Amino acid sequence: MLLELKDVHTYYALSHILFGISFGVERGSLVCVLGRNGAGKTTTMRSIIGLTKPSQGSVLFKGNNIAGLAPYQIAQRGVGFVPEDRLMFHDLTVKENLEIGARILKKKPGVNILWDLDRIWEAFPKLEQLKHRKSGYLSGGEQQMLTIARTLMGNPDLLLLDEPCEGLAPLIVKMLGELIVKISKTGSTILLAEQNIKFALDIAEKGFIIEKGVIMYQGTAQELKDNEEVRNKFLGVGISKKGD
Ligand SMILES: Nc1ncnc2c1ncn2[C@@H]1O[C@H](COP(=O)(O)OP(=O)(O)OP(=O)(O)O)[C@@H](O)[C@H]1O
Ligand SMILES: [Mg+2]
Repeated sequence: MLLELKDVHTYYALSHILFGISFGVERGSLVCVLGRNGAGKTTTMRSIIGLTKPSQGSVLFKGNNIAGLAPYQIAQRGVGFVPEDRLMFHDLTVKENLEIGARILKKKPGVNILWDLDRIWEAFPKLEQLKHRKSGYLSGGEQQMLTIARTLMGNPDLLLLDEPCEGLAPLIVKMLGELIVKISKTGSTILLAEQNIKFALDIAEKGFIIEKGVIMYQGTAQELKDNEEVRNKFLGVGISKKGD
């Protein structure tokens, strides 16, 4: 396992949010953490990247417990995080934002460079067309692509994506889904947090569904899609949903 959470409990002040989350992510896999609003997906991501320190349990990355380390230390060890809110430097161009993403590499001598500007332009041709544009002028979908691309420029061993499709039009969501699969096929390991269970199970290999800070269902994407309770609760069987 590249990443393994064991019995992770996380609080915000006195609010107990995660109640013993345990799961693993194998190297090279595309795994999703699913759940409704407020289930604890972002808190799980924050617990991995060190933005919120788990009060109990361990987060093993390449076999070492990283729970309690600072976010920059965890990033240096090879975890890249794309947060929900698409943080970028609006006054910088697309290309400049990407160059900033590569800075973390200087701290990681000997890293195998899979992603450089040329590879990014190849995988994200749209960004190449926009490379001199200030990122503040990009559309939501383009900003999301840039945030993912910038994180890839740090050549992380594990890429955490927190609801990349939130607020984007169905066509853009479809395109991002294809892009995530393409990134995964390059050998990257990806952990995707998603509320859109259908979208996530169509692209991921495995999934974990969180409800109120507890993993309630887990399995391969196919097992989850075939699970009657999951279908009734989350996939709206019998109801025509957008994207179906
Ligand atoms: N900084 C915070 N302080 C206190 N409570 C918080 C904080 N951030 C989140 N919470 C609470 O923790 C719970 C889990 O939130 P979290 O952001 O992990 O959910 P989520 O699954 O990512 O939801 P969404 O799909 O809306 O992003 C929610 O009840 C939320 O209100
Ligand atoms: Mg969230």
